Amino acid sequence: MSAAQDGRGAGAPVDPTTTPSWARLQARADGFAPDLRAWFADDPDRVDRLTFTAGDLHVDLSKALLDEDLVETLLALAGEVGLEERRSAMFAGEHINVTEDRAVLHTALRLPAGASLEVDGTDVVPAVHEVLQRVYAFAEKVRSGEWTGVTGERIRTVVNIGIGGSDLGPVMAYEALAAYRQEGLECRFISNIDPTDAATTLAGLDPASTLFIVSSKTFGTLETLTNARLCKAWLLDGLGDAAGDDAVAKHFVAVSTALDKVADFGIDPDNAFGFWDWVGGRYSLDSAIGTSLVLAVGPERFAEFLDGFHTLDEHFRTTDLAHNVPALMGLLNVWYTNFLGAESHAVLPYSQLLHRFPAYLQQLTMESNGKGVRWDGSPVSTETGEIFWGEPGTNGQHAFYQLIHQGTRLVPADFIAFAEPSYPLADGEVDVHELFLANFLAQTRALAFGKTADEVRAEGTAEAIVPARVFTGNRPTASIMAPALTPSVLGQLVALYEHVTFTQGVVWGIDSFDQWGVELGKQLAQQVGPAIDGDPAALEEQDASTRALIAYYREHRSR
Ligand code: F6P
Repeated sequence: MSAAQDGRGAGAPVDPTTTPSWARLQARADGFAPDLRAWFADDPDRVDRLTFTAGDLHVDLSKALLDEDLVETLLALAGEVGLEERRSAMFAGEHINVTEDRAVLHTALRLPAGASLEVDGTDVVPAVHEVLQRVYAFAEKVRSGEWTGVTGERIRTVVNIGIGGSDLGPVMAYEALAAYRQEGLECRFISNIDPTDAATTLAGLDPASTLFIVSSKTFGTLETLTNARLCKAWLLDGLGDAAGDDAVAKHFVAVSTALDKVADFGIDPDNAFGFWDWVGGRYSLDSAIGTSLVLAVGPERFAEFLDGFHTLDEHFRTTDLAHNVPALMGLLNVWYTNFLGAESHAVLPYSQLLHRFPAYLQQLTMESNGKGVRWDGSPVSTETGEIFWGEPGTNGQHAFYQLIHQGTRLVPADFIAFAEPSYPLADGEVDVHELFLANFLAQTRALAFGKTADEVRAEGTAEAIVPARVFTGNRPTASIMAPALTPSVLGQLVALYEHVTFTQGVVWGIDSFDQWGVELGKQLAQQVGPAIDGDPAALEEQDASTRALIAYYREHRSR
């Protein structure tokens, strides 16, 4: 066992519940009665004091359930669990992914050319930029029409085949940066092994003008390899006699850390873009896994996207914790989760273009921090991992906000909005973006300050229904604003949440970079396959419920 694996290389985790700050936070939580109305009335500086800047992000935490003493105590907790030391260890390439004995260096993917960072004795920055330049050159060829399909047609549709981190990031960013896409070049995404996904995504496409990107860090993921084979068959079938020997070479490229497996699959290594085991799947959007995005928005915009990440990395790496936005947001989430009993966290972008952002954050945060043991193998002593969820406003307002406003659960919510609309439209004289922003502002105000029974009565409400119309307020939000949803700002937002996730993981003492919890289901799926097919021995190995479900399936499947 290496030093990293036994926890020494990365430093042993501190049990946060044994720290003096944990005890102070617990004492504060007992009988905690937040009163945002009074806190705002009594403290004219509250908004200034609790508003922070990170790059282009303007982050207002004044409507959070925080006061000065809590901020100080949370910062002290960060000191006691060694947040800064672990942050340094991550940026330096130490093997803080203990259970896989790996460095964690997604931050190296966005270092500028000319920077240098040694990982296990090798400067990784030249290799990062070498791959980037190859991706950029390839993208230019496709975007300009120089790269054609086997029949000489230019590429009009790019289909990314991948799942988890090899899908959610590319889709989210492709949607978010819709305003920057090249016309006439559409990206589609196939992830699910449900054959419906491939069937509906490929429907209507012309094989002669379709390019596939097989994106898989391991190149061993059942869903992705199955879908890649389905797509290859669809391509060869569709091209018919025109396929020739070059069809796969002209219509398939791959992104992976396992370039040998890419070659085994039949994809020309010249058409493969690599990355490294120190990039976690859910942290890989800014590696070659973002190739579909580079094709859509072009190298220049992708470079701006990477700069945005780097801006936030530098903020997180160098800013003192008292002004460090990801650290403060992560610590605040610990306060909500471990002391105020919050179980979930809503992310509510007031931007339709960010409609896949909550789904992206679900993998980032829940695969990272949904753990029950620390990085030295000892059981955690606190709750870990928040359940992230959300939908864009204003749609969510008409669906689930009721629970956030008046339900019995505490749901901290991050509201995200942009000053400049991506698509400015007017309804007569009315700027529709301003209508939209009015909702963003109104919701956080309603959640924070509520409406008292007296205020409800003053509106002439019948006494019997006053209680139903009271809003308790004191429901915490963070308001995150930026000038516009540009590639750079998107990179900043993603990096913000990466570092928020990191901060929470450090407090909880967990390895935020492994994902062993996904393995058992994968293994059992292999084992159950023959049972579905009717193999008596495999059926015998299943539990009674699984056997009964298989029997139902076999009875109802028509083939
Ligand atoms: O099963 C979970 C997971 O390993 C994720 O962490 C990862 O993003 C996804 O599967 C896809 O993996 P790959 O890129 O290796 O196909």
